Amino acid sequence: MPSPAHIHPVQHRLLDRSAKEALLGQHGLVVWMTGLSGSGKSTIAIALERALHERGLYAVVLDGDNVRTGINNNLGFSEADRSENIRRIAEVAKLFVHNGAVVICCFVSPTVAIREQARTIIGAADFHEVFIDTPLAECERRDVKGLYAKARAGEVKDFTGISAPFEAPPAPGIRIATQGRSEEASSSELLNYILPRITRS
Ligand code: ADX
Repeated sequence: MPSPAHIHPVQHRLLDRSAKEALLGQHGLVVWMTGLSGSGKSTIAIALERALHERGLYAVVLDGDNVRTGINNNLGFSEADRSENIRRIAEVAKLFVHNGAVVICCFVSPTVAIREQARTIIGAADFHEVFIDTPLAECERRDVKGLYAKARAGEVKDFTGISAPFEAPPAPGIRIATQGRSEEASSSELLNYILPRITRS
């Protein structure tokens, strides 16, 4: 690792956040979606991104399956690797937020500690925790990617909800239930919650 004394960040010479936010006409923030695999995080994130785009607002989606095929393709699902996964994502999200973007993060981020790590990196004021609350039985029934069946068969190790823990957030900014509801109902509930925080003057 290079010595910090040999690193010279240029942040103070860059245009500041308020200039970017004024250009975009919005406040940057992070929508941090947590929930089991198959709970509907990505589906709701995609709908939210489109809804914001249609309103002239600039949003970026960071999604576990995407990020894990690129910047984080060297990480697995041990506790240490999940923590490093979330650390890198939170740092990337912070860079975007400081450039005025709305960053929609969809990561299982299964423990209170791992989400606290993200909150600390991003800063509590910019971090909006959203619990996509779909019961395990329903995620397993949907089994969109076939991973629950594989986890039950022991073919996928450390699978969240089956052989690795998921701790529900005790006090999320908002809890979105998806079971028995349309995709539209869940995503518009989230839109109604987040929109005033992006457009506040
Ligand atoms: S996190 O725990 O580190 O936050 P992340 O959101 O990046 O997880 O990735 C979760 C996605 O990886 C799941 O939606 C699923 O498609 C896939 N996956 C593969 N193996 C596992 C596993 N052991 N546990 C959870 N998700 C897994």
